[in-house]
Amino acid sequence: MRQHKLALCKSHFLDWIPEQAERAIQKYRMFTRDERVLVAVSGGKDSLALWDVLLKLGYQADGLYIGLGIDGGIGYSDASHEKIRQFVAARPGISLEVVDVEQVYGASIPVAAENTQRGKGRPCSVCGLTKRHVMNRVARDGGYAALATGHNLDDEAAVLFGNTFNWQVGYLARQGPVLPASHEGLARKVKPFCRLYERETAAYALLAGIDYIYDECPYAVGATSIYHKEVLARLEEERPGAKLQFYLGFLRAREAGVFQTAQEEVALLTCPTCGQPTTVEGQCAFCRMWDQVQARIGMVATL
Ligand code: AMP
Ligand code: FES
Ligand code: ZN
Repeated sequence: MRQHKLALCKSHFLDWIPEQAERAIQKYRMFTRDERVLVAVSGGKDSLALWDVLLKLGYQADGLYIGLGIDGGIGYSDASHEKIRQFVAARPGISLEVVDVEQVYGASIPVAAENTQRGKGRPCSVCGLTKRHVMNRVARDGGYAALATGHNLDDEAAVLFGNTFNWQVGYLARQGPVLPASHEGLARKVKPFCRLYERETAAYALLAGIDYIYDECPYAVGATSIYHKEVLARLEEERPGAKLQFYLGFLRAREAGVFQTAQEEVALLTCPTCGQPTTVEGQCAFCRMWDQVQARIGMVATL
């Protein structure tokens, strides 16, 4: 780890990663060992490594996998699910909830995207909205205190770069390792790996013997976040630790109240259909979108 001027052997590295996660969990008061945590697992290295680390640290961590029905010529969703199945099979007694979007809402993400204005050309927006809704719902219904995702430093630095570049001050005010529960019944959102480089989480997965899906979502190709990651990678190459410094400097500024004026509370309303928070009157964006999809698909089915 050039940024820490630290070189570790396998066994010390396998201890170091959980120690780093534990520090972040404590420092940002993410959750305690008395609380139940829901880990959103995609089948990728970060979220599976996170679940493994939380279990090793003795947290009450259950998994949630959302089946998106994405094929992309590589059977992306099926292959992801399979990796998670293997992970669970190797750890008897752990609990995984699976929500298959097509089964529950009537269409896979790509089909839904074709049948709504929001998804035209790129299903990522439909996908993000759906994942967020399902994660909130399962965390709320299951009475979880926190919802943990596998976002790493590279993810967070890229989002930060995007938000800064576009001066999205409202987003900057809310970006952080912990997003407090903003609404009754919602779990707080936490990112215990936010200070770990992607190559560190990948190395951990590899050394801990966790098999994961190497492919990115086929729809991610060309996403701005990937471009931002490339830009930051160049900075990092010339100045090891640049990403970490960028992110930690931001967190300190945020802590010092630099973005406080932007933090004005947006009044949150409750969606009459699903009960989740929304900033608009009436149905939330998720319910409106899926109503549109179901109406269109229903129409096709009756033709
Ligand atoms: P991404 O938005 O794909 O970069 O994923 C960010 C985080 O969201 C991952 O680290 C997981 O914690 C979670 N996640 C992504 N896809 C899924 C999925 N299909 N099911 C459950 N959690 C997911
Ligand atoms: Fe959702 Fe790619 S469109 S993961
Ligand atoms: Zn709703």
